[in-house]
Amino acid sequence: MGSWMRRPQFIAEHARNARGLLGRLIAFIMAHETWRQNLRAMNALGIEQGDHVLDIGCGHGRSLTELAVRAPLGHVVGVDPSQLMVEIAAQRNRPLIEAARVDVVLSSVDSLPFPDGMFDKVQCVHVLYFWKDIETSLREIARVLKPGGRLGLLFRTNADLKAIASFPPEIYRFPALAEISAALERTGMDVHVAGDGANEPALVLATKRCALN
Ligand SMILES: C[S@@+](CC[C@H](N)C(=O)[O-])C[C@H]1O[C@@H](n2cnc3c(N)ncnc32)[C@H](O)[C@@H]1O
Repeated sequence: MGSWMRRPQFIAEHARNARGLLGRLIAFIMAHETWRQNLRAMNALGIEQGDHVLDIGCGHGRSLTELAVRAPLGHVVGVDPSQLMVEIAAQRNRPLIEAARVDVVLSSVDSLPFPDGMFDKVQCVHVLYFWKDIETSLREIARVLKPGGRLGLLFRTNADLKAIASFPPEIYRFPALAEISAALERTGMDVHVAGDGANEPALVLATKRCALN
């Protein structure tokens, strides 16, 4: 294993739950750090003009602006359990919110305040490390997707030795790709693409199965 510096726990804690001035600074840095991976997820999802899109753990909300550009006839919703992140994301997207194109909602993944089958696409980038229960969270995502709707789940896996060395295990849990793929299958999703997650974050695309008559 290389000699990577481990991110201090008090900084990593703000990625899970940003608060105060330091949380604001970390949100600003995060918006730049994660941008390439957000574009990767959006491109893979193939956002269409009329899509209803949900971004889970939207944080600073930079992706919401881009998703709204890609779905000009649809609607984009971001959720995050951090009050500060919701405020930052809402501030960043104020004109789009006023135009009823974007919403930002305070919520955790495990209890989404939306009806069944509301979204065509769900994006979730660098968030699942913090989930209390992966299976419950994936079931909740499957519930809000339309049949045939697609999830783009991007995360570092336990094959990424650099990530394991760089982030404190008290805050970040890096799951095995096989664990996530199997859980998605159990929630009624077909898993389409999965890199091995060793050199860059894994991007798992999953499609909600249509019910058989
Ligand atoms: C590392 S940041 C990533 C933010 C953004 N997706 C990005 O790519 O820049 C993780 C985000 O997940 C949020 N988060 C933490 N626990 C969550 C949960 N249980 N449900 C939804 N979001 C959560 C945090 O508040 C934070 O905004």
